[in-house]
Amino acid sequence: MTEQPKKYKRTLVTTALPYANGPVHIGHLAGVYVPADIYVRYLRATGQEVIMIGGSDEHGVPITIRARKEGITPQDVVDRYHSIIKKSFQDFGITMDVYSRTTSETHKKVASDFFRTLYDKGEFVKKTSQQYYDPEANQFLADRYIIGTCPHCGNDHAYGDQCEKCGTSLSALELKNPKSAISGSKPELRETTHWYLPLDKHEPWLRQWILEDHKEWRSNVYGQCKSWLDMGLQPRAVSRDLDWGIPVPVEGAEGKVLYVWFDAPIGYISNTKELLPDSWEKWWKDPETRLVHFIGKDNIVFHCIVFPAMLKAHGGFILPDNVPANEFMNLEGDKISTSRDWAIWLHEYLQEFPGKQDVLRYVLTANAPETKDNDFTWRDFQARNNNELVAILGNFVNRVVVLTHKYFGGKVPAPAELQPIDTESIEAFKAERHQVESLIEAFRFRDAQKEAMNMARIGNKYLADTEPWKLAKTDMTRVATILNIGLQITANLATVMEPFLPFSAQKILDQLNLNKQGWDTIGSMDILATGHQIGQPVLLFEKIDDSVVEEQLARLDAKRKANEQAQWQPQPIAETIDFSAFEKLDIRVGLVTECTKVPKADKLLQFKIDDGLGGRTIVSGIAKFYNPEDLVGKRVLFIANLAPRKLKGIESQGMILSAEDADGNLSVVTTSTEVKPGCQVK
Ligand code: 2FM
Ligand code: ZN
Repeated sequence: MTEQPKKYKRTLVTTALPYANGPVHIGHLAGVYVPADIYVRYLRATGQEVIMIGGSDEHGVPITIRARKEGITPQDVVDRYHSIIKKSFQDFGITMDVYSRTTSETHKKVASDFFRTLYDKGEFVKKTSQQYYDPEANQFLADRYIIGTCPHCGNDHAYGDQCEKCGTSLSALELKNPKSAISGSKPELRETTHWYLPLDKHEPWLRQWILEDHKEWRSNVYGQCKSWLDMGLQPRAVSRDLDWGIPVPVEGAEGKVLYVWFDAPIGYISNTKELLPDSWEKWWKDPETRLVHFIGKDNIVFHCIVFPAMLKAHGGFILPDNVPANEFMNLEGDKISTSRDWAIWLHEYLQEFPGKQDVLRYVLTANAPETKDNDFTWRDFQARNNNELVAILGNFVNRVVVLTHKYFGGKVPAPAELQPIDTESIEAFKAERHQVESLIEAFRFRDAQKEAMNMARIGNKYLADTEPWKLAKTDMTRVATILNIGLQITANLATVMEPFLPFSAQKILDQLNLNKQGWDTIGSMDILATGHQIGQPVLLFEKIDDSVVEEQLARLDAKRKANEQAQWQPQPIAETIDFSAFEKLDIRVGLVTECTKVPKADKLLQFKIDDGLGGRTIVSGIAKFYNPEDLVGKRVLFIANLAPRKLKGIESQGMILSAEDADGNLSVVTTSTEVKPGCQVK
């Protein structure tokens, strides 16, 4: 028997609380906030009761690391980034009903009470274990604060929770030669006591609830949960020895705070309470509320296993109905990384592309990493803007508005009898509505946007097929009908595009001089009354030139190079040789008397060298790095007794020595004084 779909009265949408230890980038937007915003805007347009909860995650080790690096307090760090993040979301039209923070007084109390309830109900187990302690800094060390050698790949800069070189998850105890990242001293193992949530005890109902009752979850989410469950759940510590966080509200817990992953999801509840102090409970406790968590894939276990176990242990709360987690968005083929500054930061994007929020929203949704990691590239950004937003949606709306002004003084003309091309186009247009709806409801925003765009394509094709600008000479009644239909389609597009492109939707409404319409009007061909005066045409999108994209690519290229430089390490020293082997090499000083490019060989330069013995010719592969004339007069070092060999038909009698840098650039080695040509190098 198939289960009846549940009927819900309202939807509570939560969006992952970003750590306030840095600004937000396109990966955040693509993974969580744009899809959540599309979903919520759609539900609102359909008249459903919905709220969207957000906020900054302001506790945890990442914040303290940032503070230490900058020599400021953790509170300074979160104050700075909370406002930057909040502004970025507002600027991109992410319509959260509340954007609060986990350092708020409301949250401290809600999280503290939550812990206390679980504690009083005996839902925790207390355990003592050995953990690293920094005797100089006088504190226990979070895993991230311990640096040592990775047991898997030998990287001697691995962190206690992960080796970033080979990607392996680690526990601090596995690191070889551990050192404290705070003082550099050797940490000691000391006993410490913490409270654990016994996830093993919750495993049976979690198995049933996820693996049997939520087979409809995205396969990446379901699959990750299944593999956790199949490995067997272990108790998880919910407290930490740290001086930044919410104090554990229990006697004898001095110096201990709630683990950030315990308090952060409770932030969803606190922020709801802050938004709706008198009615928050119906959003969290009434089984007729549908709870949906929008997150990235690294948060799956916390939202599908740990937080539900916390809610269940507490009692009285609903559990999530769906967790549409996304995979990651990469940038030009590489993983986005805050520490390597490999990201497009939202506030920087807006400085460079003011007013172009919808272009980024569109491109991120078109490439949404819904089922696998995806890649943002500037070329694709340009192509989607120019070939889709400008050429299809923008072009259609502009033609309709301009022609209405040209032929009818900006007044909606009256339609006459419809012809088959009219009814066919209208039917095709109407048929798309259901597609868009069911795709959004299934959290398939990428395909939903594609279908919405198809509606603009249908409009564009309708104009191309009917060519009203040609009919204007002969049949104004027909032109009136076509433009009436074109205007009604334009009005429809404002509604259908609003969840995806809210700024452009508003621009369409302004041009039509129309108020926002409900989702139910989609398909209607009498939204705009005959005689209604529309507004002036405004371009929705503008072409992005090659030069703009090239500038962005050049900037990324420079960043990539800087990162490579920073990561560059000298080659390991070659095998030891004895002195006699060195003596066999006859290295000499040569004065460059002539230097020219070798024809048809873009890498080679031909040198005439004064070697004090009548001169010789040497060919060297350094043409990419020098103008030949700049080398004339230089005293270079060359190997004089290397067997001659032919390069492009020229006999090269020796080899000029060059140093190679991190980028593979070659730099010719010269002498520091004007020694005589032919001198030996010893
Ligand atoms: O991964 C992160 O960025 C976390 N700060 C997400 C927290 S989501 C929720 F639990 F608050
Ligand atoms: Zn490693």
